[in-house]
Parts: sequence; C-alpha cells; structure tokens
Amino acid sequence: MTVVVTGATGHLGDLVVEHLLADGTAPDQIVATGRNTGRLAELAEQGVRTAAVAYDDAAGLDAAFAGADVLVLVSGSEVGQRVPQHAAAIDAARRAGIGRVVYTSAPHADTSDLLLVPEHRETERLLRESGLAWTILRNNWYSENYLGTLDQARQTGVVLTSTGTGRVASAARDDYAAAAAVVAVGTGHEGRVYELSGDVAWTFDDFAATAADVLGRPVEHRSVSGDEQAAILREAGLDEGTVGFVVGLDAGIARGDLADATADLRTLIGRPTTPLADTLAASL
Ligand SMILES: NC(=O)c1ccc[n+]([C@@H]2O[C@H](COP(=O)([O-])OP(=O)(O)OC[C@H]3O[C@@H](n4cnc5c(N)ncnc54)[C@H](OP(=O)(O)O)[C@@H]3O)[C@@H](O)[C@H]2O)c1
Repeated sequence: MTVVVTGATGHLGDLVVEHLLADGTAPDQIVATGRNTGRLAELAEQGVRTAAVAYDDAAGLDAAFAGADVLVLVSGSEVGQRVPQHAAAIDAARRAGIGRVVYTSAPHADTSDLLLVPEHRETERLLRESGLAWTILRNNWYSENYLGTLDQARQTGVVLTSTGTGRVASAARDDYAAAAAVVAVGTGHEGRVYELSGDVAWTFDDFAATAADVLGRPVEHRSVSGDEQAAILREAGLDEGTVGFVVGLDAGIARGDLADATADLRTLIGRPTTPLADTLAASL
C-alpha cells in the first residue's frame, strides 16, 4: 500500500512518516511531500520517495499522488489560504483515484466557534462531497503549542491568560502522528470522524503547577478578562492582529472549545497519551 503524506516537511507530517516506517510500511511505499527541499532530502536519505510540490501546483500534485492508495492530507499552515489549497489536494486525489483521504482537522469542527475552525469545517465539507473515501482526524491542540508559554513562565513566573477555568485536552504531536499512521494503513476507518485529544483536559492553573514542577520555580496563573489581556499584550508591543488572535483563542478555551478529552486517541494508539508534564520537560 502506498501512502502519500502532505506537509511531510513540517513537524506533524514528518512524525507521520516516522510512524509509518516504524509500523512496517516500506520506505518506497511512502511519498513525502512539501516545499522545503532540504527537509525532503533528509527524508529521501531514509529511502522514502519525495516530491517537492506546493498546493497550487496541480501538475506536481498529480505526479506526487499517482499510484498512491491513501493520502494523509496534513492541513496547511497558511491560514486564510487553506481552503483552496486543501481543495486542490482533494481534486488531485480524485484525479489520481486515491482510495482514501485522511485529513487532520480541528476539534468538533462541525459545531465549534473556535478561531481557525472555519477552514477545517469547509475542508471537511469538500471531502464529504468529493466522492472519495475519507477519515477525519479532529486533532485537539498540540501540547507543544505551549512551549513558548513555558518559556515565559521560566522568565517571569507568570502565565497570563483570559481562559478562566477553561480546559485544554492537548496531547503531544507525536501521539497524533502515531494515530494518523495507524489510520492510514489500517482498515475500518473509512467514513469515521475521530475526536483526538489527550487523556487529560487541564486548566491553566494546572498548567502553571506543572510548569512550576518542571522548571523548579514558582509559577502563577494570572487569569484576567479579555480586555485586560488585550491591553497588556498591546503594552508589550504585539500588533492588533496578534492581540485579537491570542484573546480570541483564549475566549474559545474559556468557552470549553478545547475541553473535550475523549478516548479516541488513546484507543487508536493503544496506550495513554503523553502527559503535558512529559512534553514540557522534554523541551528543556
Ligand atoms: N492542533 C494544533 O495544535 C495545531 C497547531 C498548529 C497547527 N496545526 C495544523 O496542523 C498542521 C500540521 O502542524 P505542524 O506543526 O506540522 O505545522 P508545520 O510544521 O508548520 O507544517 C506545515 C506543513 O504544511 C506545508 N505547507 C504549508 N503551506 C504549503 C503549501 N502552500 N504547499 C505545500 N505545502 C505547504 C509545509 O511545507 P513546507 O514547510 O515545506 O513549505 C509544512 O510541511 C498545520 O499546518 C496546521 O494546519 C494544528
């Protein structure tokens, strides 16, 4: 079975390739795609087939997808451009006669009001209407998203949010990648939507306590209103777009948009998900 992986030059896609190899897929049955030719060369050193291709390069996508059985469509990172990019990949998958598309989406993408979700919701709709077989992996947050927050805590002893008691059911990127590899080559996943998350939904009070343990210094969670947070971020020199993004994401967390800790991820990977403390500690 040949598996083509988009975004294989990025953090998640690279780990998906690693898990496919570790789980027994032969290197020449994997096609790693992305734009970064340096990263592709490193992947090629492992015997993996590679293709340097951007989502707006239809002929390149056709060549990369030819003969593949499964496409792992790792969502793109260019926010605002992702719907046409994903649509291009789905169209190419249809032209190539790919058997199934595995797409990395966002938690409860059908109903969530979280920032960033609309592009995932639209991509899911395109997939459902494509006539292709699909599996949707609705990935909750990566614990790695908070390594910058850990660094702030190290420097200041403070974690500032407007999340209140909102929870984040994050898992390590590697956990999500392991699940994507399992779903790509396994059977029984067609037409399934998995809500993938960590086993534990933590609050930022919990995060501060974990950071304190990991850093060996006191860390306090200071929860303020969205307006107060925006004022503090502006004062620190952040531009309006970034301020709106951070405050908007925190509002989503406060609402509970990332709070759903399900069993889907641990069931797919056959082990507990990586604790937040382990990801934070490993980064130091
Ligand atoms: N759940 C979460 O917490 C979370 C957090 C952040 C992002 N995400 C989503 O999950 C995806 C994977 O995460 P990640 O950490 O692996 O992100 P990442 O390291 O930024 O990787 C993004 C990948 O997308 C590729 N890409 C972007 N634009 C492209 C284009 N126009 N044409 C072809 N390839 C393109 C990049 O290729 P090149 O580098 O080779 O250009 C790279 O391989 C992200 O792209 C984003 O959609 C989820």
